[in-house]
Amino acid sequence: MNKRIYLCLAHMSGCEQDFIKEAFDTNWVVPLGPNVNAFEEELQAFVGENKKVVALSAGTAAIHLGLIQLGVQAGDEVICQSFTFCASVNPVVYLGATPVFVDSEKDTWNMSPELLEKAIEDRITQIGKKPKAIVFVHLYGMPAKVDELMAVAHKYDIPILEDAAEALGSEYKGRKCGTFGKFGALSFNGNKMITTSGGGALVVPNEEAKKETMFYATQAREAFPYYQHERIGYNYRMSNICAGIGRGQMTLLDEHIAHHRHIHALYKEAFEKMDGITLMSNPDESSNANYWLCTILIDEEKTGVDYEELRVALDVKGIETRPLWKPMHLQPVYQHNPCYVDGTSEKLFNKGLCLPAGPCVTDEDVAYIVHEIKQCIYRG
Ligand SMILES: Cc1ncc(COP(=O)(O)O)c(C=O)c1O
Repeated sequence: MNKRIYLCLAHMSGCEQDFIKEAFDTNWVVPLGPNVNAFEEELQAFVGENKKVVALSAGTAAIHLGLIQLGVQAGDEVICQSFTFCASVNPVVYLGATPVFVDSEKDTWNMSPELLEKAIEDRITQIGKKPKAIVFVHLYGMPAKVDELMAVAHKYDIPILEDAAEALGSEYKGRKCGTFGKFGALSFNGNKMITTSGGGALVVPNEEAKKETMFYATQAREAFPYYQHERIGYNYRMSNICAGIGRGQMTLLDEHIAHHRHIHALYKEAFEKMDGITLMSNPDESSNANYWLCTILIDEEKTGVDYEELRVALDVKGIETRPLWKPMHLQPVYQHNPCYVDGTSEKLFNKGLCLPAGPCVTDEDVAYIVHEIKQCIYRG
């Protein structure tokens, strides 16, 4: 095999260019425009629950604007899932607030409801103030323990921002991820379930919140004929060109989700027979992951290799894999932040790899990847 197999490459329907051409033909080569409006409507119909959606320049921007609307300010604390990509957390710091990290539980690898409650209680005792918001994630598209997390948040009356950047199309108890918290963030970065080359969206509760999000995303310009600013805003709107790509991608979204699940099923069948390799799968019928990336844990004692040896061996064979996210509480930049951890995410980080799962990965690719993993393990 001489082609390289990537984790999750962008995959175009072909009609993206029609929407872009239309934007050029009508000279809508700006942020805002008909593609943006149509893309937002399509996303609204997709996520359901009467939610509104605002298309933005990035998922990170969505998290930032969600936190602003939850009232997060300098001096506040925000509880964040430690096991995630830094973009779930950095916007807390943009606002001068402090991320407080909570570890994962073993079933979904997402925020532990028990440690969340412990963290809230302890922050109230330590600083006499409740955390301002909770950011939990559906990592690798696996739905978090939403009911349990929401119950804790409700008990202490703390709002939730759900980071569903990796979970477009994932469902918890039949409802789309991103629609549970007061706000939900989506990402359309180049390697996500669909792409707009770069982009994201904020899922918001109603029309008023949609207007407020757009206001902050367009430099907080007040309704005056001249430029009047009473608050600080950002330039976070999605362009009409990127939204054209998004509209083309929406025609493929269901197909992409089905393909990721199909690839997961192929890995599942193969790894069931391999001692020492555990594929991350839905823990029960509440969860229906999109399997954005398929992830495995490697038992070093049983296989004779650690994740890094396996990663390097597969790389030589033209297969891109990636270690699991390094938890935020272990990142040098966040080493002094408060954290409530029990070693779960650290263990995952030390044992796991993401395998290719995107729309360009074929059944033959999976067979090849599984074959190469077999070649590499059980050698001793
Ligand atoms: C968990 C998570 N949160 C947030 C983001 C941020 O999205 P973006 O890259 O669109 O800013 C990403 C992806 O990049 C992500 O994986």
